[in-house]
Amino acid sequence: MTETVQWMADGTPYSPRFGDRYHSEAAHALAQAEQVFLAGCGLPRAWAGQPQWRILETGFGFGLNFLVTWHAWQQDPARPALLHFVSTEAFPIAAADLLEQARKFPHLLPLAEELAAQWWGLLPGVHRLRLAGGRVLLSLLVGDSQTMLRQHELVADSIYLDGFSPARNPDMWSLHTLKAVARCARRGTRLATWTIAAQLRRDLAQCGFEVRKVPGVPPKRDNLQASFAPHWEPRKAPLWPMGAQALPARLAGGGGHAAI
Ligand SMILES: C[S@@+](CC[C@H](N)C(=O)[O-])C[C@H]1O[C@@H](n2cnc3c(N)ncnc32)[C@H](O)[C@@H]1O
Repeated sequence: MTETVQWMADGTPYSPRFGDRYHSEAAHALAQAEQVFLAGCGLPRAWAGQPQWRILETGFGFGLNFLVTWHAWQQDPARPALLHFVSTEAFPIAAADLLEQARKFPHLLPLAEELAAQWWGLLPGVHRLRLAGGRVLLSLLVGDSQTMLRQHELVADSIYLDGFSPARNPDMWSLHTLKAVARCARRGTRLATWTIAAQLRRDLAQCGFEVRKVPGVPPKRDNLQASFAPHWEPRKAPLWPMGAQALPARLAGGGGHAAI
């Protein structure tokens, strides 16, 4: 059973469950993905020359942030060999809705079609989707963000927080969820989001993030960026059992050969 999406007269997708829109109209939605999230985490510059880059997102929704990130990775000659995008989603939408939205962004449509071909059977649990010949991994944690993040060990280089508005979707922004997010951060991990709610800023600071308001992307006046810089020593991050921490030899060596 996939999540019900209502399409508004202006073409924006709306969630009856949360009483909120997934995105603003197309141009704003794209600008938000590109500027609030991708640029808000210093990408693509931050990943240049790195062997891999790991992004954690709360709230996969239509995957617009994912598609924009994948597209930026695809276009970047200095891209990491492996892009691992991990995203939580409690209520996956149908592939047909995902494609309906992606048709508004012709440059993203081929990527959305590749994604949609694997977008099925998303029962609660972890789903690993191999895209771009295995160079882009999408780990979908289907379930509640806080619960799923507590159950899995992962380290993120960038974090996108993208729930519905805190008033309508308080679980996604609760201190407990943010603590579960923070345990995935390494020192220096950058985080970006579109809401500057005072409680969120206080809670992120309590979790070890240095938080700053930055000029927003219309219709928002301000957005939020943060870096993980706790005053305490975070516990040493374990290896990522979801697979991407140890790079496959063919991705690690810039095209070299390995005898097995
Ligand atoms: C604003 S939409 C995300 C848009 C998305 N990032 C994109 O690029 O298309 C918020 C998403 O959070 C999901 N969500 C809400 N509460 C959740 C929870 N407790 N755990 C996991 N996902 C949740 C919703 O189902 C919805 O898909």
